[in-house]
Amino acid sequence: MEFLSLREVIEKKPREVKIRGWVYRIRKLKNKIFIVLRDSSDILQCVVEKEKFGKEIEKIEIESSLIIEGKTREEKRAPNGVEIDVSKIEIVGLSKDFPISKFQSTELLLDYRHLWIRSRRLTEIMKIKSSLLKFSREFFLERGFYEVTPPIITASACEGGATQFEIKYFDEKAYLNQSAQLYLEALIFSLEKVFSITPSFRAEPHRTSRHLAEYWHIEPEVAWMDFNELLKLEEEFISYICQKIAENNEKELKFIGRDPEDLFKVKPPFPKITYDEAIEKLKKLGIKISWGKDLRTIEEEKLTQGLNKPLIVTHYPREIKAFYMKDDRKNPKVVLCNDMIAPGYGEIIGGSERETDIEILKEKLLKAGEDLKNYEWYLDLRRYGNIPHSGFGAGAERILRWICKLDHIRDAIPFPRTLRRKYP
Ligand code: 4AD
Ligand code: MG
Repeated sequence: MEFLSLREVIEKKPREVKIRGWVYRIRKLKNKIFIVLRDSSDILQCVVEKEKFGKEIEKIEIESSLIIEGKTREEKRAPNGVEIDVSKIEIVGLSKDFPISKFQSTELLLDYRHLWIRSRRLTEIMKIKSSLLKFSREFFLERGFYEVTPPIITASACEGGATQFEIKYFDEKAYLNQSAQLYLEALIFSLEKVFSITPSFRAEPHRTSRHLAEYWHIEPEVAWMDFNELLKLEEEFISYICQKIAENNEKELKFIGRDPEDLFKVKPPFPKITYDEAIEKLKKLGIKISWGKDLRTIEEEKLTQGLNKPLIVTHYPREIKAFYMKDDRKNPKVVLCNDMIAPGYGEIIGGSERETDIEILKEKLLKAGEDLKNYEWYLDLRRYGNIPHSGFGAGAERILRWICKLDHIRDAIPFPRTLRRKYP
Protein backbone atom coordinates (compact mmCIF):
# COMPACT_ATOMS: atom_id res chain seq x y z
CA MET A 1 0.00 0.00 0.00
CA GLU A 2 1.24 3.48 -0.86
CA PHE A 3 1.42 6.31 1.66
CA LEU A 4 -1.27 8.96 1.32
CA SER A 5 -1.04 12.48 2.66
CA LEU A 6 -3.60 13.28 5.32
CA ARG A 7 -5.31 15.70 2.95
CA GLU A 8 -5.67 12.95 0.37
CA VAL A 9 -7.28 10.72 2.98
CA ILE A 10 -9.70 13.49 3.99
CA GLU A 11 -10.62 14.27 0.39
CA LYS A 12 -10.78 10.77 -1.12
CA LYS A 13 -11.74 8.71 1.95
CA PRO A 14 -10.39 5.38 0.63
CA ARG A 15 -11.37 2.37 2.80
CA GLU A 16 -7.86 1.30 3.77
CA VAL A 17 -5.00 3.72 4.25
CA LYS A 18 -1.34 3.94 5.13
CA ILE A 19 -0.23 7.30 6.54
CA ARG A 20 2.69 8.87 8.39
CA GLY A 21 3.27 11.96 10.43
CA TRP A 22 3.71 13.40 13.91
CA VAL A 23 1.46 13.38 16.95
CA TYR A 24 -0.26 16.74 17.10
CA ARG A 25 -2.59 15.94 20.00
CA ILE A 26 -3.02 12.83 22.11
CA ARG A 27 -5.67 11.77 24.61
CA LYS A 28 -5.17 8.53 26.50
CA LEU A 29 -8.28 6.84 27.90
CA LYS A 30 -8.59 3.56 29.77
CA ASN A 31 -8.87 1.34 26.73
CA LYS A 32 -8.38 3.75 23.83
CA ILE A 33 -5.89 6.32 22.65
CA PHE A 34 -7.01 9.20 20.44
CA ILE A 35 -4.16 10.48 18.34
CA VAL A 36 -4.48 13.50 16.09
CA LEU A 37 -1.74 13.07 13.54
CA ARG A 38 -0.30 15.93 11.50
CA ASP A 39 1.69 16.04 8.30
CA SER A 40 2.52 18.92 6.00
CA SER A 41 -0.95 18.76 4.48
CA ASP A 42 -3.43 18.58 7.38
CA ILE A 43 -4.45 16.81 10.61
CA LEU A 44 -6.37 13.57 11.06
CA GLN A 45 -7.71 11.69 14.07
CA CYS A 46 -6.65 8.07 14.63
CA VAL A 47 -8.24 5.78 17.19
CA VAL A 48 -6.11 3.08 18.80
CA GLU A 49 -7.82 0.25 20.68
CA LYS A 50 -5.25 -0.54 23.36
CA GLU A 51 -6.02 -4.25 23.62
CA LYS A 52 -4.88 -4.81 20.01
CA PHE A 53 -1.35 -3.52 20.74
CA GLY A 54 1.55 -4.08 23.08
CA LYS A 55 2.80 -1.87 25.95
CA GLU A 56 5.02 0.13 23.55
CA ILE A 57 2.14 2.36 22.47
CA GLU A 58 1.94 3.85 25.96
CA LYS A 59 5.22 5.61 25.16
CA ILE A 60 3.66 7.66 22.37
CA GLU A 61 3.60 11.36 23.23
CA ILE A 62 3.14 14.70 21.45
CA GLU A 63 5.48 14.96 18.43
CA SER A 64 6.34 11.23 18.23
CA SER A 65 6.60 10.22 14.59
CA LEU A 66 4.40 7.32 13.50
CA ILE A 67 3.46 5.13 10.56
CA ILE A 68 -0.15 4.04 10.78
CA GLU A 69 -2.36 1.68 8.80
CA GLY A 70 -6.08 1.43 9.24
CA LYS A 71 -9.62 1.87 7.96
CA THR A 72 -11.32 5.22 7.43
CA ARG A 73 -14.62 6.01 9.03
CA GLU A 74 -16.81 9.10 8.92
CA GLU A 75 -16.92 10.75 12.32
CA LYS A 76 -18.53 14.16 12.74
CA ARG A 77 -16.74 14.89 16.00
CA ALA A 78 -13.26 14.38 14.51
CA PRO A 79 -11.43 17.33 12.91
CA ASN A 80 -12.21 17.23 9.14
CA GLY A 81 -14.99 14.68 9.75
CA VAL A 82 -12.92 11.53 9.16
CA GLU A 83 -11.11 9.23 11.53
CA ILE A 84 -8.87 6.19 11.21
CA ASP A 85 -9.52 2.95 13.00
CA VAL A 86 -5.92 1.86 13.53
CA SER A 87 -4.91 -1.71 12.65
CA LYS A 88 -1.12 -1.28 12.57
CA ILE A 89 1.11 1.26 14.25
CA GLU A 90 4.85 1.74 13.99
CA ILE A 91 6.71 4.16 16.23
CA VAL A 92 9.42 5.70 14.04
CA GLY A 93 10.77 8.21 16.56
CA LEU A 94 9.73 8.76 20.17
CA SER A 95 9.42 12.26 21.60
CA LYS A 96 9.78 12.43 25.35
CA ASP A 97 8.61 15.60 27.12
CA PHE A 98 8.33 17.88 24.10
CA PRO A 99 9.40 21.23 25.56
CA ILE A 100 6.57 23.30 24.07
CA SER A 101 3.08 23.10 25.47
CA LYS A 102 0.07 25.39 25.27
CA PHE A 103 0.75 28.69 26.99
CA GLN A 104 4.41 29.58 26.54
CA SER A 105 6.21 32.89 26.66
CA THR A 106 7.34 34.46 23.42
CA GLU A 107 10.97 34.20 24.53
CA LEU A 108 10.72 30.46 25.17
CA LEU A 109 9.04 29.94 21.81
CA LEU A 110 11.92 31.83 20.19
CA ASP A 111 14.51 29.74 22.05
CA TYR A 112 12.76 26.64 20.71
CA ARG A 113 12.13 28.12 17.29
CA HIS A 114 13.52 24.97 15.62
CA LEU A 115 10.62 23.05 17.19
CA TRP A 116 8.03 25.83 17.19
CA ILE A 117 8.14 26.06 13.38
CA ARG A 118 6.16 22.79 13.48
CA SER A 119 3.17 24.71 14.80
CA ARG A 120 0.22 24.82 12.43
CA ARG A 121 0.12 28.60 12.32
CA LEU A 122 3.76 28.93 11.28
CA THR A 123 3.33 26.04 8.85
CA GLU A 124 0.44 27.78 7.08
CA ILE A 125 2.38 31.07 7.00
CA MET A 126 5.39 29.32 5.45
CA LYS A 127 3.15 27.83 2.77
CA ILE A 128 1.90 31.30 1.89
CA LYS A 129 5.52 32.51 1.79
CA SER A 130 6.39 29.75 -0.63
CA SER A 131 3.57 31.03 -2.86
CA LEU A 132 4.77 34.60 -2.47
CA LEU A 133 8.23 33.66 -3.74
CA LYS A 134 6.84 31.48 -6.51
CA PHE A 135 4.41 34.12 -7.78
CA SER A 136 7.05 36.85 -7.54
CA ARG A 137 9.27 34.84 -9.87
CA GLU A 138 6.33 34.04 -12.10
CA PHE A 139 5.36 37.73 -12.37
CA PHE A 140 8.78 38.81 -13.59
CA LEU A 141 9.49 35.79 -15.78
CA GLU A 142 6.12 36.19 -17.55
CA ARG A 143 7.12 39.77 -18.37
CA GLY A 144 10.42 38.81 -19.97
CA PHE A 145 12.75 39.50 -17.02
CA TYR A 146 15.87 37.42 -16.41
CA GLU A 147 16.56 36.15 -12.91
CA VAL A 148 20.16 36.96 -11.92
CA THR A 149 22.44 36.14 -8.99
CA PRO A 150 24.17 39.23 -7.59
CA PRO A 151 26.80 38.97 -4.85
CA ILE A 152 26.11 39.05 -1.12
CA ILE A 153 29.62 40.15 -0.17
CA THR A 154 30.36 43.70 -1.24
CA ALA A 155 32.67 46.68 -0.81
CA SER A 156 30.01 49.30 -1.60
CA ALA A 157 27.16 50.64 0.49
CA CYS A 158 23.86 50.80 -1.34
CA GLU A 159 21.77 52.11 1.54
CA GLY A 160 24.35 54.02 3.59
CA GLY A 161 27.38 52.75 5.49
CA ALA A 162 25.80 53.12 8.93
CA THR A 163 23.65 50.02 8.65
CA GLN A 164 26.10 47.59 7.04
CA PHE A 165 27.30 44.42 8.68
CA GLU A 166 31.08 44.33 8.43
CA ILE A 167 32.80 41.02 7.83
CA LYS A 168 36.40 39.89 7.72
CA TYR A 169 37.25 39.16 4.11
CA PHE A 170 40.66 37.44 4.10
CA ASP A 171 42.95 40.33 5.12
CA GLU A 172 40.44 43.03 4.25
CA LYS A 173 37.11 44.39 5.36
CA ALA A 174 33.95 43.73 3.41
CA TYR A 175 30.22 44.01 4.03
CA LEU A 176 27.06 41.97 3.67
CA ASN A 177 24.90 43.48 0.97
CA GLN A 178 21.93 45.66 1.95
CA SER A 179 20.47 45.47 -1.54
CA ALA A 180 21.39 43.93 -4.87
CA GLN A 181 20.46 47.12 -6.66
CA LEU A 182 23.86 48.48 -7.69
CA TYR A 183 24.77 45.12 -9.22
CA LEU A 184 21.38 44.83 -10.91
CA GLU A 185 22.02 48.23 -12.44
CA ALA A 186 25.19 46.83 -14.01
CA LEU A 187 23.30 43.79 -15.32
CA ILE A 188 20.61 45.72 -17.24
CA PHE A 189 23.23 46.88 -19.75
CA SER A 190 23.13 43.40 -21.22
CA LEU A 191 19.88 41.84 -20.04
CA GLU A 192 17.71 45.01 -19.86
CA LYS A 193 15.08 43.53 -17.51
CA VAL A 194 16.44 41.67 -14.49
CA PHE A 195 15.36 40.66 -11.01
CA SER A 196 16.86 38.88 -8.07
CA ILE A 197 15.61 37.34 -4.85
CA THR A 198 18.43 37.39 -2.30
CA PRO A 199 18.97 37.81 1.40
CA SER A 200 19.68 41.42 2.38
CA PHE A 201 21.28 42.49 5.61
CA ARG A 202 20.65 45.57 7.75
CA ALA A 203 22.48 46.38 10.95
CA GLU A 204 19.64 48.59 12.14
CA PRO A 205 19.58 48.82 15.91
CA HIS A 206 15.78 48.89 15.92
CA ARG A 207 13.53 46.76 18.07
CA THR A 208 10.36 47.10 16.09
CA SER A 209 7.80 44.72 14.70
CA ARG A 210 8.99 45.36 11.14
CA HIS A 211 12.78 45.20 11.14
CA LEU A 212 14.85 42.10 10.55
CA ALA A 213 18.65 42.05 10.38
CA GLU A 214 18.39 39.48 7.57
CA TYR A 215 15.47 39.48 5.15
CA TRP A 216 14.60 38.30 1.65
CA HIS A 217 14.69 41.03 -0.91
CA ILE A 218 12.82 40.93 -4.22
CA GLU A 219 14.38 43.46 -6.58
CA PRO A 220 13.69 44.22 -10.25
CA GLU A 221 15.72 46.70 -12.30
CA VAL A 222 14.64 47.84 -15.77
CA ALA A 223 16.51 49.60 -18.59
CA TRP A 224 14.75 52.55 -20.28
CA MET A 225 12.01 52.61 -17.62
CA ASP A 226 10.91 55.99 -16.26
CA PHE A 227 9.37 56.84 -12.92
CA ASN A 228 5.70 56.62 -13.98
CA GLU A 229 6.23 53.22 -15.58
CA LEU A 230 7.97 52.10 -12.40
CA LEU A 231 4.94 52.97 -10.26
CA LYS A 232 2.76 50.93 -12.61
CA LEU A 233 5.11 47.95 -12.31
CA GLU A 234 4.99 48.15 -8.51
CA GLU A 235 1.19 48.23 -8.43
CA GLU A 236 0.90 45.37 -10.87
CA PHE A 237 3.41 43.33 -8.90
CA ILE A 238 1.62 43.73 -5.57
CA SER A 239 -1.77 43.19 -7.15
CA TYR A 240 -0.55 40.01 -8.92
CA ILE A 241 0.82 38.57 -5.68
CA CYS A 242 -2.42 39.31 -3.82
CA GLN A 243 -4.67 37.84 -6.53
CA LYS A 244 -2.56 34.69 -6.89
CA ILE A 245 -2.28 34.07 -3.15
CA ALA A 246 -6.02 34.66 -2.69
CA GLU A 247 -6.69 32.09 -5.44
CA ASN A 248 -4.16 29.48 -4.40
CA ASN A 249 -3.93 29.77 -0.62
CA GLU A 250 -7.52 30.11 0.46
CA LYS A 251 -7.25 27.35 3.05
CA GLU A 252 -4.06 28.73 4.60
CA LEU A 253 -5.39 32.30 4.64
CA LYS A 254 -8.59 31.23 6.35
CA PHE A 255 -6.65 29.23 8.92
CA ILE A 256 -4.68 32.29 9.99
CA GLY A 257 -7.79 34.47 9.92
CA ARG A 258 -7.30 36.45 6.70
CA ASP A 259 -10.23 36.80 4.32
CA PRO A 260 -9.07 36.09 0.73
CA GLU A 261 -11.78 38.52 -0.49
CA ASP A 262 -9.78 41.43 0.96
CA LEU A 263 -6.79 40.40 -1.15
CA PHE A 264 -8.87 40.14 -4.33
CA LYS A 265 -9.67 43.83 -3.85
CA VAL A 266 -6.01 44.85 -4.06
CA LYS A 267 -6.05 45.99 -7.71
CA PRO A 268 -4.55 49.01 -9.48
CA PRO A 269 -4.75 51.93 -9.36
CA PHE A 270 -3.41 52.45 -5.83
CA PRO A 271 -3.88 55.83 -4.19
CA LYS A 272 -0.88 58.14 -4.73
CA ILE A 273 0.25 61.29 -2.99
CA THR A 274 3.43 63.33 -3.08
CA TYR A 275 5.53 63.87 0.01
CA ASP A 276 4.54 67.57 -0.06
CA GLU A 277 0.87 66.66 -0.05
CA ALA A 278 1.47 64.10 2.71
CA ILE A 279 3.04 66.80 4.92
CA GLU A 280 0.12 69.15 4.28
CA LYS A 281 -2.36 66.40 5.07
CA LEU A 282 -0.57 65.46 8.28
CA LYS A 283 -0.46 69.09 9.41
CA LYS A 284 -4.20 69.36 8.82
CA LEU A 285 -4.66 66.27 10.98
CA GLY A 286 -2.86 68.16 13.74
CA ILE A 287 0.43 66.29 13.56
CA LYS A 288 3.60 68.27 14.18
CA ILE A 289 5.91 67.61 11.26
CA SER A 290 8.09 69.88 9.19
CA TRP A 291 9.09 69.52 5.55
CA GLY A 292 12.33 67.57 5.22
CA LYS A 293 11.68 65.01 7.96
CA ASP A 294 11.24 61.36 7.03
CA LEU A 295 7.82 59.83 7.68
CA ARG A 296 7.72 57.74 10.83
CA THR A 297 5.45 54.82 11.61
CA ILE A 298 2.74 56.95 13.22
CA GLU A 299 2.65 59.30 10.28
CA GLU A 300 2.46 56.42 7.80
CA GLU A 301 -0.41 55.02 9.84
CA LYS A 302 -2.30 58.31 9.76
CA LEU A 303 -1.85 58.57 5.98
CA THR A 304 -3.14 55.05 5.29
CA GLN A 305 -5.98 54.96 7.80
CA GLY A 306 -9.11 53.40 6.34
CA LEU A 307 -7.48 52.36 3.04
CA ASN A 308 -7.95 48.84 1.70
CA LYS A 309 -4.98 49.08 -0.67
CA PRO A 310 -1.42 50.29 -0.16
CA LEU A 311 -0.63 53.98 -0.57
CA ILE A 312 2.18 55.22 -2.82
CA VAL A 313 4.04 58.27 -1.50
CA THR A 314 6.30 59.92 -4.08
CA HIS A 315 8.90 62.70 -4.41
CA TYR A 316 10.61 62.66 -1.00
CA PRO A 317 13.25 65.31 -0.16
CA ARG A 318 16.64 64.40 -1.66
CA GLU A 319 18.40 64.98 1.69
CA ILE A 320 16.69 62.01 3.37
CA LYS A 321 16.95 59.57 0.49
CA ALA A 322 19.69 57.38 -1.03
CA PHE A 323 22.39 58.77 -3.34
CA TYR A 324 21.29 56.86 -6.44
CA MET A 325 17.80 58.37 -6.67
CA LYS A 326 17.29 60.79 -9.53
CA ASP A 327 16.87 64.49 -8.70
CA ASP A 328 13.55 65.71 -10.05
CA ARG A 329 14.72 68.09 -12.77
CA LYS A 330 11.57 70.19 -12.26
CA ASN A 331 12.19 70.49 -8.52
CA PRO A 332 15.70 69.40 -7.51
CA LYS A 333 14.82 69.50 -3.79
CA VAL A 334 13.02 66.19 -4.25
CA VAL A 335 13.88 62.89 -5.93
CA LEU A 336 11.93 60.59 -8.26
CA CYS A 337 11.31 57.94 -5.66
CA ASN A 338 8.46 56.29 -3.82
CA ASP A 339 7.61 54.24 -0.81
CA MET A 340 4.63 51.93 -0.96
CA ILE A 341 2.91 51.85 2.41
CA ALA A 342 0.57 49.04 3.44
CA PRO A 343 -2.26 50.23 5.73
CA GLY A 344 -1.36 49.35 9.30
CA TYR A 345 1.93 47.69 8.35
CA GLY A 346 4.15 50.41 6.90
CA GLU A 347 6.59 50.40 4.01
CA ILE A 348 6.61 47.28 1.83
CA ILE A 349 8.39 48.68 -1.25
CA GLY A 350 11.00 51.34 -1.91
CA GLY A 351 11.68 52.31 -5.51
CA SER A 352 13.12 55.05 -7.70
CA GLU A 353 14.26 56.21 -11.08
CA ARG A 354 18.06 56.19 -10.91
CA GLU A 355 20.29 59.26 -11.22
CA THR A 356 22.05 59.36 -14.58
CA ASP A 357 24.24 62.47 -14.01
CA ILE A 358 27.65 61.28 -12.87
CA GLU A 359 28.51 64.63 -11.24
CA ILE A 360 25.38 64.57 -9.10
CA LEU A 361 26.16 60.98 -8.07
CA LYS A 362 29.70 61.92 -7.05
CA GLU A 363 28.50 64.92 -5.08
CA LYS A 364 25.97 62.82 -3.17
CA LEU A 365 28.43 60.01 -2.46
CA LEU A 366 31.02 62.45 -1.11
CA LYS A 367 28.39 64.14 1.01
CA ALA A 368 27.49 60.73 2.45
CA GLY A 369 31.14 60.28 3.44
CA GLU A 370 31.80 57.53 0.92
CA ASP A 371 35.15 56.88 -0.74
CA LEU A 372 34.64 57.28 -4.50
CA LYS A 373 37.26 54.57 -5.06
CA ASN A 374 34.71 51.95 -4.01
CA TYR A 375 32.19 53.27 -6.51
CA GLU A 376 34.32 53.68 -9.63
CA TRP A 377 32.78 50.53 -11.07
CA TYR A 378 29.29 51.93 -10.49
CA LEU A 379 30.22 55.30 -11.99
CA ASP A 380 31.50 53.46 -15.07
CA LEU A 381 27.88 52.51 -15.76
CA ARG A 382 27.24 56.24 -16.33
CA ARG A 383 30.38 56.58 -18.48
CA TYR A 384 29.70 53.81 -20.96
CA GLY A 385 26.30 53.84 -22.66
CA ASN A 386 24.34 55.60 -19.92
CA ILE A 387 20.55 55.11 -20.10
CA PRO A 388 17.47 56.07 -18.06
CA HIS A 389 16.43 53.22 -15.75
CA SER A 390 14.41 52.42 -12.66
CA GLY A 391 13.87 49.69 -10.13
CA PHE A 392 12.45 48.80 -6.75
CA GLY A 393 13.04 46.62 -3.73
CA ALA A 394 10.32 44.72 -1.89
CA GLY A 395 10.86 42.97 1.43
CA ALA A 396 9.32 39.49 1.19
CA GLU A 397 8.67 39.40 4.94
CA ARG A 398 7.13 42.88 4.95
CA ILE A 399 4.69 41.84 2.22
CA LEU A 400 3.96 38.54 3.93
CA ARG A 401 3.40 40.25 7.26
CA TRP A 402 0.81 42.52 5.69
CA ILE A 403 -0.85 39.74 3.68
CA CYS A 404 -1.08 37.48 6.74
CA LYS A 405 -1.74 40.35 9.18
CA LEU A 406 1.07 39.24 11.48
CA ASP A 407 1.67 41.17 14.69
CA HIS A 408 5.43 40.82 14.25
CA ILE A 409 7.66 40.39 11.21
CA ARG A 410 9.57 37.55 12.90
CA ASP A 411 6.73 35.15 12.10
CA ALA A 412 7.26 35.83 8.40
CA ILE A 413 10.63 34.03 8.50
CA PRO A 414 11.43 30.65 10.07
CA PHE A 415 14.61 31.71 11.86
CA PRO A 416 14.41 35.46 12.52
CA ARG A 417 17.59 37.47 12.96
CA THR A 418 16.88 40.49 15.09
CA LEU A 419 18.79 42.87 17.33
CA ARG A 420 18.92 40.35 20.18
CA ARG A 421 18.67 37.04 18.43
CA LYS A 422 20.74 34.83 16.14
CA TYR A 423 20.01 31.52 17.95
CA PRO A 424 18.79 29.00 16.88
O1 4AD B 1 13.77 50.99 0.96
P1 4AD B 1 14.98 50.10 0.89
O2 4AD B 1 16.09 50.36 1.84
O3 4AD B 1 15.47 50.20 -0.62
C1 4AD B 1 16.54 49.53 -1.14
O4 4AD B 1 17.26 48.76 -0.56
C2 4AD B 1 16.70 49.74 -2.61
N1 4AD B 1 18.12 49.62 -2.94
C3 4AD B 1 15.84 48.72 -3.33
C4 4AD B 1 15.88 48.84 -4.81
O5 4AD B 1 15.49 49.87 -5.34
N2 4AD B 1 16.34 47.80 -5.50
O6 4AD B 1 14.52 48.59 1.07
C5 4AD B 1 13.60 48.02 0.17
C6 4AD B 1 12.57 47.21 0.92
C7 4AD B 1 11.73 48.01 1.90
O7 4AD B 1 10.66 48.68 1.26
C8 4AD B 1 11.24 46.94 2.84
O8 4AD B 1 10.16 46.23 2.25
C9 4AD B 1 12.44 46.00 2.89
O9 4AD B 1 13.21 46.24 1.74
N3 4AD B 1 13.25 46.22 4.10
C10 4AD B 1 13.24 45.45 5.19
N4 4AD B 1 12.54 44.35 5.49
C11 4AD B 1 12.75 43.77 6.70
N5 4AD B 1 13.63 44.24 7.61
C12 4AD B 1 14.36 45.35 7.34
N6 4AD B 1 15.24 45.79 8.26
C13 4AD B 1 14.18 46.00 6.08
N7 4AD B 1 14.73 47.09 5.52
C14 4AD B 1 14.15 47.20 4.30
MG1 MG C 1 12.95 52.49 2.09
